[in-house]
Amino acid sequence: MKTKITLAAIAAAFTVNVATAQDAVDFEKQILPILKENCFKCHEKEKEDNGKIKKPKGGLRLDGAALIMKGGKEYPNENVVAGKPDASWLLKTMALPDSDDMAMPPEGKGDRIAADKQALIKKWIESGASFGSWKGEE
Ligand code: HEC
Repeated sequence: MKTKITLAAIAAAFTVNVATAQDAVDFEKQILPILKENCFKCHEKEKEDNGKIKKPKGGLRLDGAALIMKGGKEYPNENVVAGKPDASWLLKTMALPDSDDMAMPPEGKGDRIAADKQALIKKWIESGASFGSWKGEE
């Protein structure tokens, strides 16, 4: 009897592990495209645009894994806090209403990020914010 219960418990634990692995969010495939489409315009490497130098806004670059973790001027090391979506400004700024000064993208500068995409980013941060093999720019 005892043995049976133990085996059942092991089987249950195994099932949970498998489910987690399948559900893991792939940063490069699922998150990076969201950032590219909605954020890179203002949060990328310094670039020249019509002879004008465009610097990353707020000192924040999102085009590299280490840069994402480094964060910007106001919230260094708090752009993405692994395991803590509520402390991660990358997600917090997206969730703000247009009327808020810190809403990202800023009012009139892009569409709000869809709820399902925010949920995906939340899940990615909650599960440890792994970049996989992606490094991006340094
Ligand atoms: C049109 C330009 C623009 C776009 C697009 C944009 N941002 Fe920003 N972002 C800014 C500006 C300007 C600041 C500086 C903050 C301020 O003082 O208002 C900033 C600051 C930030 C900060 C604070 C950085 C710090 O530590 O100081 C975060 C986090 C942020 N943006 C995230 C995002 C995310 C995530 C996206 C995409 C969903 C995004 N931004 C899209 C212009 C933009």
